[in-house]
Amino acid sequence: MNIAIFASGTGTTLQTLIDRQAELGYHVALVVANRECQAVERAQKHHIPTLQTKDWTAIDTALANSNIQLVVLAGFLAIIPHWICEKWNKRIINIHPSLLPKYGGKGMYGIHVQEAVLAAKEQEAGCTVHYVSAEIDGGSIIAQAKVDVLPEDTPETLAQRIQEQEKILLPRVIDELAHL
Ligand code: GAR
Repeated sequence: MNIAIFASGTGTTLQTLIDRQAELGYHVALVVANRECQAVERAQKHHIPTLQTKDWTAIDTALANSNIQLVVLAGFLAIIPHWICEKWNKRIINIHPSLLPKYGGKGMYGIHVQEAVLAAKEQEAGCTVHYVSAEIDGGSIIAQAKVDVLPEDTPETLAQRIQEQEKILLPRVIDELAHL
């Protein structure tokens, strides 16, 4: 299965997906970034075609030209326009660092999520892989992984443990979708 990965940041999730593609049922055929970021450098290092743009028509065309079957949002911090959500319905998935439907929606990304989790004194936290719909973080849930919140946790330590789970969960889900 040919996948495109959309990223905006450090691209550690992208790196994991690249590192594991040889043993799993997908091929990273395209990396799309909406800004200059480390994720693009990682892709280039692995000779994966990249596209850095905010032009959604260009992105849509590139997905078709690269024969993409699944789009994976891996730390992609831009809103997907409705027409792309509709056109690529059930073919875009996202990894989010919370147990959705809790701590999703506008402004809930990266470390802000774990700050909110700790402020609410949650006992458990985690990550969710879900289909992308027009509602931010509101598409149907595919899989989740949980971690305990420890009394000594800071947003950073909690985020670190959750990201370890993300890097196990996301390749597994993509592999399962590839084998459907
Ligand atoms: C990941 O923790 C991902 O869950 C989060 O951004 C990080 C990306 O890290 N995504 C969101 O918060 C989306 N709402 P990376 O750039 O190192 O892969």
